[in-house]
Order: sequence, then structure tokens, then C-alpha cells
Amino acid sequence: MRAWQIVSPNGIDALELSEQRSPEPGPGKVKVRIRASSINYRDLGTVRDPVSRKLPYPRIPNSDGAGEIIAVGSGVTGLSKGARVASTFFQRWTDGQCSAEAMASALGGALDGVLAEEAVLGADGVVPIPDHLSFEEAATLPCAALTAWNALVEAARVKAGDTVLLLGTGGVSIFALQFAKHMGARPIIISSSDAKLERAKALGAAHTINYRKTPDWDRAVLDLTNGVGVDATVEVGGAGTLPKSIAATRVAGTISLIGVLAGGQIDPAQFMRKSIKMQGIYVGSRRMFLDMNRAIAVGGLKPVIDQTFAFEKARDAFHTMEAAGHFGKIVIRV
Ligand SMILES: NC(=O)c1ccc[n+]([C@@H]2O[C@H](COP(=O)([O-])OP(=O)(O)OC[C@H]3O[C@@H](n4cnc5c(N)ncnc54)[C@H](OP(=O)(O)O)[C@@H]3O)[C@@H](O)[C@H]2O)c1
Repeated sequence: MRAWQIVSPNGIDALELSEQRSPEPGPGKVKVRIRASSINYRDLGTVRDPVSRKLPYPRIPNSDGAGEIIAVGSGVTGLSKGARVASTFFQRWTDGQCSAEAMASALGGALDGVLAEEAVLGADGVVPIPDHLSFEEAATLPCAALTAWNALVEAARVKAGDTVLLLGTGGVSIFALQFAKHMGARPIIISSSDAKLERAKALGAAHTINYRKTPDWDRAVLDLTNGVGVDATVEVGGAGTLPKSIAATRVAGTISLIGVLAGGQIDPAQFMRKSIKMQGIYVGSRRMFLDMNRAIAVGGLKPVIDQTFAFEKARDAFHTMEAAGHFGKIVIRV
């Protein structure tokens, strides 16, 4: 079987496609014929700089994969050959709170990932995928979708009628837009691009703001919320956007801290004065993934895929994410 591997700290163009022995599933494991893998910003970061992440290489990148089970190890119940499954980002976070043990089980990080024709995963490290989704669509779920779900449902407990603020139009934010709309919330989304904002409107964004043309987007959000601010913010920018996110969030609202796309500084007094609830989010558990898939199936939600690449063109897929022109997800067919 073939697998892409990080073999040096020399970035995307140094990724290597290698022939490897087909892995066999031990007790409690399943072997999956991976059919598609999606890229997350984190995977791009890992490929570009494995050293600062203390990643041993060679290492197979990417947490997100979908395919069918082709072999089942001893002791596995409830899963059989032919089952359509997706990988869970953490191989050992089934339920409850995140833990150091769970964090040491991230695919494409502490463990080899799924940018490969085959992968051996824990029986609890896969979930069944909704019937209406293709492998390409299902491969977008493990990281970006679950992170958005965790932020809105678990952290912010968003309900119908709430207003939510979404930053940018990448994988996490577009899933958050779809979930917010599905839950009857009112999404406000900001982007650097009017064309992307038009697409966001078509997906159900109630209000759109171009953060390049309107650098004081926090004021624009306040204007849209009668000066009150949004109930929940899905924060992917980090220190560079947090001060404005705090300003745009209502008193005692929730900010889910997810990403670090924009550098900057934060004044902690801002949180204190507005009684903001700030929740760090690290993807989510297997139980959350099952809950999310149920909602996706009931709502018939379809992930938004910007582009799909052939397996051999995986490097181009990473370069495309690096260029940041995408809307939604980038997928590699395996
Ligand atoms: N904590 C977790 O568990 C977790 C999970 C998934 C992702 N993340 C993090 O979340 C972030 C987003 O991940 P992703 O996979 O969705 O990335 P992505 O698909 O590459 O999306 C990035 C998008 O963010 C927008 N953006 C960039 N700088 C911005 C700024 N200053 N203000 C507002 N929007 C900005 C841009 O949208 P426009 O082009 O529309 O402007 C860009 O396309 C990354 O930092 C990633 O590491 C964390």
C-alpha cells in the first residue's frame, strides 16, 4: 500500500509518496481502506513545521479519513468488513472531558495519520458515516466539522434564535455556518472576500461583513445586534481577532477559542469586564462525533468541498490550502 509521509522539515514539496507493507489489525483494531482524506490547517502546519511540534518522522500526515473496513482484529464487535467509517481525530477520546491520554492519540500528530491507502485504527477510533455522504464528504468530518459542532453545541449550547459570529470561510467556519443554520440560529460571518461572502449567504448566512473593507467589523456586528453583541463566537483567529470578538460578543456570551490564524495581543480585562465565557476547544470526542453525525443525517447536511485532488497530487492540495483561496474543505481522493 502507498502512503504519503513527512520525512524531513522541508515542507510540502518534501512530502514523500512511499510503498509500505500492508498493516494488519491487532486485537481491538480494524483495517480501513481509506478512500478520501481531507486537509485541515493543522495538517498544513504539521507538514510545514514538524520540528516545533516535536513530531518524529517519517510520519503519515492528516487526521481525517473515510473508507471501508477491510479486516477486523480479534475482540472487535459491532464492526464488520465493508462498513463505511470515518476516523476519529483522537483515537482514545470516547466520551467525557479531554485528557492528556486522549491528546496523545491524535492522528497525523502523535500517531501516524490517514493520508495512505490503508490505515489500522482502533475499533473506537472510527465512527459509521451517514448514508447520504460520499467518502469524500465524510472525510471532511473528523476535525473541522466536529470542532464546529463542539463549539456551538457543547460549549455555547446554541439554541434556535441565538445569534452566532463566525470568522472566515475555511473548514471550521463553514461547518459552523451550516450547523448554526440547521439549529435555527442566526449566523453572522466575516471574510476577506465578497465572492466568498456571497457563497456564505447562499448557505444561509443572515449577515455578511468583509473584514478587509470593514476593519471595525466588531462595530458592524454590534449594529446588527442592537448594540448587544452575539450570543456565541467561533474564534479561529486567536490573539489577532480576539479583542474584536470580545467586543462583538454579548455580556456573558460564549467565545469558543479554536484557532490561531492571526497574531496579536489580548487584554484579559476585556474578558473580565464582559463576564465572557471562554472555552478552549480541541476537536471533540467520539460521542460528540456520533451526535453530530445523527444531526447531519437528520438534516441531510452536505459538507462544502472546495476542491478534490488525486492521491498523487496531495502536495498540490496542501499548496492550495496554503494559498487560502478556498471556501470550505479541501479533499484528497485516495
Ligand atoms: N482547536 C481545534 O480543535 C481546532 C480544530 C480545527 C481547526 N483549528 C484551527 O482553526 C483555524 C481554522 O482552521 P481551518 O481548518 O478552518 O482553516 P482554513 O480552512 O485554512 O480556514 C482559514 C480561513 O480563516 C480566515 N481567516 C484567516 N485570517 C483571518 C482573520 N484575521 N480574521 C478572520 N478570518 C481569518 C480566512 O477566511 P477568508 O478567506 O474568508 O477571509 C481563511 O480562509 C486554524 O488556526 C486551525 O489550526 C483548531
